Amino acid sequence: MGSTYNNWVEREKKSIMSTYGRYPLAVARAAGNRLYDPEGREYVDLLAGIAVNGLGHCHPALNKAMIEQAETLGHVSNLFYQEPQILLAEKLLATCDADKVFFCNSGAEANEGAIKLARRYMRKVRGVDAHEIVTLEGSFHGRTLATLTATGQSGKIKDGFGPLPSGFRTVPFGDVCALRGAVTDATAAVMVEMVQGEGGVRPLPEEFVDALLALREEKGFLLIVDEVQTGLCRTGSFWAHQRFNVRPDIFTTAKALANGLPMGAVLATDEAAKGFEPGSHATTFGGGPVVAAVASKVLDLMLEERLAERAELLGAFAHEALRGVVAEHPDKILSLRGMGLMIGVELAFPGQDVWRALLDKGFVLNLTQGSVLRLLPPLTIEEADLTAFAAALAEVLRDVER
Ligand SMILES: Cc1ncc(COP(=O)(O)O)c(C=O)c1O
Repeated sequence: MGSTYNNWVEREKKSIMSTYGRYPLAVARAAGNRLYDPEGREYVDLLAGIAVNGLGHCHPALNKAMIEQAETLGHVSNLFYQEPQILLAEKLLATCDADKVFFCNSGAEANEGAIKLARRYMRKVRGVDAHEIVTLEGSFHGRTLATLTATGQSGKIKDGFGPLPSGFRTVPFGDVCALRGAVTDATAAVMVEMVQGEGGVRPLPEEFVDALLALREEKGFLLIVDEVQTGLCRTGSFWAHQRFNVRPDIFTTAKALANGLPMGAVLATDEAAKGFEPGSHATTFGGGPVVAAVASKVLDLMLEERLAERAELLGAFAHEALRGVVAEHPDKILSLRGMGLMIGVELAFPGQDVWRALLDKGFVLNLTQGSVLRLLPPLTIEEADLTAFAAALAEVLRDVER
């Protein structure tokens, strides 16, 4: 590592709370699908800020939208009407079957809002005390107290933060019987990711989705879909729930919405949205003019450039290339998973060394659940980058000892 890297590590140790297990890489600038360290070494970005930079880095049209809006109206309280927020809501709603939007600043905040909306809808609209939220093992919904409680993982995420809020239940991933057993008259909502991200790139089994929809019909709970990672063209359709023919009562988005500026949103049917009224939920920065203008441009570009289709095509291309690696190393790769450009390579052994060797070769990606290499590249990634990655992985696996 260069001297700038060491300098930043030392200074950060003295000034920033120690919450991140950072990668051994300092990033000084980025452009398109590439990251550059302070010495100018180039890396292929196969992570995109963990599914954030869908359109790549430093996109000129997004920078232009940001600057133009900043020079016109930078911030105004949500006490006032402003058009960038309305326009963004209209554009978002045109991509899906939802009727209303609430804007916030992150994925966790969006999920927190979704949970609040479901509970309040049950109490104020249906007049019942249904407040429990059922989630799945392996899920990840955020780091606020409610969303970390909803998260179906143990360990450091929850350790030491008790007492955690009550009214949450977790059932094993894909287990229809357990879901049936967990849903009661006290259930406000079942909350799922259509493809679990942090949980190891695991699409929900179709039978489970069918059973979930039938159970919603029978019991009347709300279905919340967390699209914070899967949304915005990532899985080959604009929203992952569309691939599964699901109409959520509420769904959430964040990450790629403003391509790197902090923004989240809760989307709901008109019926579910009745759960909120003036004064019941709010945030200072949500839907501010600058992020809203950038997100509007993100949606325009995603549609103009048909990025959902591109994610589907390049996802298929990546899987094909990776199948070649599996054929060469059948004992070292257990499975290839995912949808579109959300790709998981499950190794048969702890993957830290493989992940590190790929970083050394200039490929930035993530390792989740200890053994799943997770790829969430910009949707603008090129075939040549995916081919080069597959070749690098094959080479690393040749050298690695199990
Ligand atoms: C599925 C899912 N939900 C929620 C979150 C939390 O989002 P944020 O970090 O913006 O709060 C994440 C973040 O990784 C996520 O992947």
